[in-house]
Amino acid sequence: MVVRLLLIVFICLHAAWAQQPEEATVIVKGSTKIAETDKNYVCATIDWWPPEKCNYNQCPWGQSSILNLDLDHPFLAQAIQAFDNLRIRLGGSLQDRVVYDVGTNSPCSPFTNMSNGLFGFSVGCLSMDRWDKLNDLFQKSGAIVTFGLNALYGRYNVRRSFWAGKWNSTNAYDFLKYTISKGYPVDSWEFGNELSGHGIGARVDAKLYGKDVIELKSIFQQLYKAPRSQPFLLAPGGFFDQQWYSQLLQTSGHGVVSALTHHIYNLGGGNDVHLIRKILDPKYLDRSEDTYRDMQLTLQRHGTWASAWVSESGGVFNNGGQLVSNTFINSIWSSLKLFP
Ligand SMILES: *[C@@H]1O[C@H](CO)[C@@H](O)[C@H](O)[C@H]1NC(C)=O
Ligand SMILES: *[C@@H]1O[C@H](CO)[C@@H](O)[C@H](O)[C@H]1NC(C)=O
Repeated sequence: MVVRLLLIVFICLHAAWAQQPEEATVIVKGSTKIAETDKNYVCATIDWWPPEKCNYNQCPWGQSSILNLDLDHPFLAQAIQAFDNLRIRLGGSLQDRVVYDVGTNSPCSPFTNMSNGLFGFSVGCLSMDRWDKLNDLFQKSGAIVTFGLNALYGRYNVRRSFWAGKWNSTNAYDFLKYTISKGYPVDSWEFGNELSGHGIGARVDAKLYGKDVIELKSIFQQLYKAPRSQPFLLAPGGFFDQQWYSQLLQTSGHGVVSALTHHIYNLGGGNDVHLIRKILDPKYLDRSEDTYRDMQLTLQRHGTWASAWVSESGGVFNNGGQLVSNTFINSIWSSLKLFP
């Protein structure tokens, strides 16, 4: 509906600008469906970054993370409610290094600066008390929850960004068990963050990843008793790489991955001085088209049971652009992305 409205607006503007108005007929073939968009496609991520996360001498995260956000702030629940079932994803670069403070892993230690750690931090910790409070907020505000699991747990760094070894599912198992015992309705569990292809910080072989995803699926089957209550399994939440994504689907096999997730950051890094020009160039956004097409082809060839989701998309990576991402002009980019 919104797409159609925009189309009409653009035609009107065009008519107003042209010297001699021309008549045009636009025919929309309503009978042929080319794609379907989920009702709850609008999504926000709450990340793990501690206040010490800095890029280009800017440290904008402050108290906005899963671990330190003021969950009782009256605006927060209202803002979530205003979206009418907003999908909230909990995840980000440090998710793969989070330990859940439950079972044999309790107690665990919080993220601290560590110069030789992944992204400059040590492993971190999610307490079950904090998890309870987060779920309190999500339930009272009607959020639909996607949680990103620690896909690096149990692996080791072999060389440069390459991580080997099998995922140790014990901690995730205990965490899911706790979550289910509390009746928290997590809609989807996403396995890993940006470990696909060349990876951002860390990368894992696609075949190994596929086997771990099978293990996660079997944990769902063990812990979620009723077949109808099975949550969605999302993977890999990284940058699209055709070969890697195909291999993941081929290894994990039929019906395991519910949705293939990928991230889009097509504006560049936060220190790019041309951000505003890119945002105002209507052709710039079209450059993601190839990625979407390749993703669609990959699903047609290797995973007809799965759908495609963008599970994170900021436009500008590394904290956003100062005086761009946090100013009015960013709303133009956001609305272009939502209603292309
Ligand atoms: C952690 O590192 C950041 C830079 O990455 C620095 O600004 C901050 O002061 C450090 N914090 C501590 C507690 O060492
Ligand atoms: C997996 O992690 C658990 C702690 O969560 C540990 O007790 C266990 O030994 C680990 N398993 C392997 C195979 O490393």
